[in-house]
Amino acid sequence: MSKTVLITGVAGLLGSRLADWIIENKPEYKVVGIDDLSGGYESNVHPKVDLWEIDLVKHPISFTLLHMLLKDLVLLYVVLTMITT
Ligand SMILES: NC(=O)c1ccc[n+]([C@@H]2O[C@H](COP(=O)([O-])OP(=O)(O)OC[C@H]3O[C@@H](n4cnc5c(N)ncnc54)[C@H](O)[C@@H]3O)[C@@H](O)[C@H]2O)c1
Repeated sequence: MSKTVLITGVAGLLGSRLADWIIENKPEYKVVGIDDLSGGYESNVHPKVDLWEIDLVKHPISFTLLHMLLKDLVLLYVVLTMITT
């Protein structure tokens, strides 16, 4: 059975490194990444990452919706910088 790891902030320093590590060391996992590219770079994102370009402040996603979209989700890493005023 496939397993999906979701990483928010996947185009940033930590998120992209984490995605690279999982893809290189845990090939049984599929990586989905969310990033609005406000601070990170698309070029940081491993080509095997399924990148969803979403601003999570403007468009918050509930766990319920995530589980509906990614039925095999096993891990969620939240690695992003949020500045709210
Ligand atoms: N880099 C470090 O050494 C370090 C150490 C300790 C803690 N942290 C913390 O870990 C977090 C991530 O660090 P980093 O260095 O990877 O930061 P980063 O700025 O490189 O990455 C953050 C990513 O989050 C994305 N992002 C920001 N707001 C978003 C939004 N509203 N919707 C979707 N994506 C959004 C940005 O586009 C960026 O790609 C930060 O909170 C940072 O303070 C970092």
